[in-house]
Amino acid sequence: MERTNTMKLPSSIKPDNMKNLVTHFPQLLSTLQIESSILNTAREFHKEGLNGICFLGMGGSSIAGNYARALLSKELKIPISVTRDYLLPTYVDDKWVVIAISYSGNTEETLSSLSMANEIGSRIILMTSGGKMAQESKHPIIHLPDGLQPRAALPLIFSAVLPIVESLAGLKITNFQYLEEVLIKKSNTWNEWLFPPKEIAESFIEKTPLFIGSRHLAPVAYRAKCQINENSKALAFHSELPESNHNEIESFVKTNGCSVLPVFLRSGLEPTKINRRFDVTYDMYLEMGLSPINLLASGDTRLEEMLALTHFLDMISVELAELFSIDPVSVERIKELKHRLSR
Ligand code: PA5
Repeated sequence: MERTNTMKLPSSIKPDNMKNLVTHFPQLLSTLQIESSILNTAREFHKEGLNGICFLGMGGSSIAGNYARALLSKELKIPISVTRDYLLPTYVDDKWVVIAISYSGNTEETLSSLSMANEIGSRIILMTSGGKMAQESKHPIIHLPDGLQPRAALPLIFSAVLPIVESLAGLKITNFQYLEEVLIKKSNTWNEWLFPPKEIAESFIEKTPLFIGSRHLAPVAYRAKCQINENSKALAFHSELPESNHNEIESFVKTNGCSVLPVFLRSGLEPTKINRRFDVTYDMYLEMGLSPINLLASGDTRLEEMLALTHFLDMISVELAELFSIDPVSVERIKELKHRLSR
């Protein structure tokens, strides 16, 4: 079936060094060249008509689906769902396109829901660096370069996911080449920011971060939580405005000894109602004795904001790991759990 070229990683990339990988986030965005046949297949699916796009994946492999959904929410006329389970949702039928992503290619939940998609005859696109998923011969596969941690592969994965979703939706395709330069420029000024990554990481030593995003920055908040969990081996939370104004705002009376640091992920493109909610929530959290911080994403577009802020937050997770003298690459407990389940 159709294949993408297996891309070689830039020689400066050190797969066993998470700080190096996060530093190369911008370069990884423009590393993968998707074969035109895959995009043509996606365009064909668009022409034939589809009822929705369902992502299958877990952890670091699945988040690109949330990014695509949040980013394209205003343009898309079909739903995108992101399934992190053994089961394929029953609303997904042969009129849906399923995009299954597993960096290792061996994640059992993803393989299970993928086999259900195969059974019902959905149109399927796969993305993996190897494992059982790479043995599939029936469907187009995007081959990811191997040797990385799945979460470090987000820029690679997303740079393929977005053009595929855009093709499936009949939209103009994003050019990732220019984004590399944009993100490098932004990262060169991190230390001039009000809070450079290391300083923010220091504030997470005593306090548990609660990342709060809205709209296109909601998945960025979720990604930040996951990166602190996996890279820094520390507790973190995430939530979303306006929803958290209807529940979480009441929760700081009884925190059971957990000292929370709300981190508002702010967009320069916030609509008035969301902007006001953030400002009022910030003030109320201050009055409650919390010490919230605002992180303003910088970018001319929602996509630039999402990626630049993700890059910045990923670096915070690595800085925090360094402060804890922890290796951000190793995920011993995830490995052990997968091993026990496979017995
Ligand atoms: O980042 C990680 O290492 C994890 O969150 C993995 O992505 C998760 O366990 C799923 O594995 P895979 O991405 O190989 O399917």
